[in-house]
Amino acid sequence: MKLRSIRDVEVKGKRVILRVDFNVPLDENGNVVDDFRINSALPTIQYLLDKGARLIVISHLGRPKGKRDPKYSLIGVAKRLAELMRKEVLFAPDVVGEEVELAVAGLRDGDLLLCENVRFHEEEEKNDPEFASRIAKLGDLYVNDAFSASHRAHATVEGITRYLPSYAGFLMEKEVKYLSMLTEGPTRPYYLVLGGAKVSDKVALLENLLPRVDGVLVGGAMAFTFWKALGKETGQSIVEPELMEFARQLVEKAEKEHKSLVLASDFVVSDETRSRIATKSIDEFEPTDIGLDVGPETLRQFASVLSEASTVFWNGPLGLFEDSRFAQGTRALAEFLTGRSGLTCVVGGGDTANAVRELGFFDKFAHVSTGGGASLEFLEGKILPGIAPLLEED
Ligand code: 3PG
Repeated sequence: MKLRSIRDVEVKGKRVILRVDFNVPLDENGNVVDDFRINSALPTIQYLLDKGARLIVISHLGRPKGKRDPKYSLIGVAKRLAELMRKEVLFAPDVVGEEVELAVAGLRDGDLLLCENVRFHEEEEKNDPEFASRIAKLGDLYVNDAFSASHRAHATVEGITRYLPSYAGFLMEKEVKYLSMLTEGPTRPYYLVLGGAKVSDKVALLENLLPRVDGVLVGGAMAFTFWKALGKETGQSIVEPELMEFARQLVEKAEKEHKSLVLASDFVVSDETRSRIATKSIDEFEPTDIGLDVGPETLRQFASVLSEASTVFWNGPLGLFEDSRFAQGTRALAEFLTGRSGLTCVVGGGDTANAVRELGFFDKFAHVSTGGGASLEFLEGKILPGIAPLLEED
């Protein structure tokens, strides 16, 4: 999958519309709480400014449902961006209309203008062609660096590419490089480590990747849907009954195709009140038990399988890592995966990316995807609507 790159186009003096994903958490005063996604877009922003572009940056934030709502303003993001860039960031209060047109007309080479949340207009999510064309008129060319929003066929992600020459930014390139490696031909042995609460989020991913991997390791609460399907007592742990048949079939399929399917086999358990904590094998579960993290035996088993791996894709924390009593599984796995030389490990999904950042392992992985839904859909084998228009023609 080859994308048209910003390296291949002259941007000096050009008005460049850059779509980023600055959909970041804000505190009650509108200040940025987590700047991971802003930081991730900086190489593209810096490059374009250094090359003398006149930069018009567009993003969404949250889901304001097409209405102007100060809770979802990008003003706090503009402030953080200026701090990170050590540069003045101009701010336009809207993405269309006279004010932004004047601001764009006043831009000099190397200036940066951030526009207010594009989702204040319902036309964005409707992919309204007229809205896309109005925005396109602000620029000479368009760059998409919003990988994590590229599963949305929205006006400034997809529609706008019909009106302007369109290119991929560096973050987009990096995401596509690592994630296509996982769907095309990664170095074997190749394992998938899945966690998190829901099997339902991973059905299409499992269907697309199972034929390509050597094995799947399942931790997190999603292991309980498998165990319940295999007839075990899972107490009060999260189970998706409607996914039990899928889980059963997956176990059979993996066996038939000689893939290893390793289910977490012991857990750190508690109860509703979280007052008692114990480690139990799945065979020891009682009706009041809630499994909240994987146990030491599971970690040994996972480490033994993964010690052979050359490539790993990890999606989903192994336990309720936000509570330090149940973070050990996720921490130990991160430690193991980042400590092994010769292993390429890609981390995907919003929660897993948060977990490895909070636990301090972020920089040690080959790649941590900024995408939640986007990375899953990409790995399900879909050509995302925001990426298709950036593909280099053969
Ligand atoms: C995300 O956070 O996954 C992206 O910014 C997309 O946001 P959305 O799910 O509101 O479209």
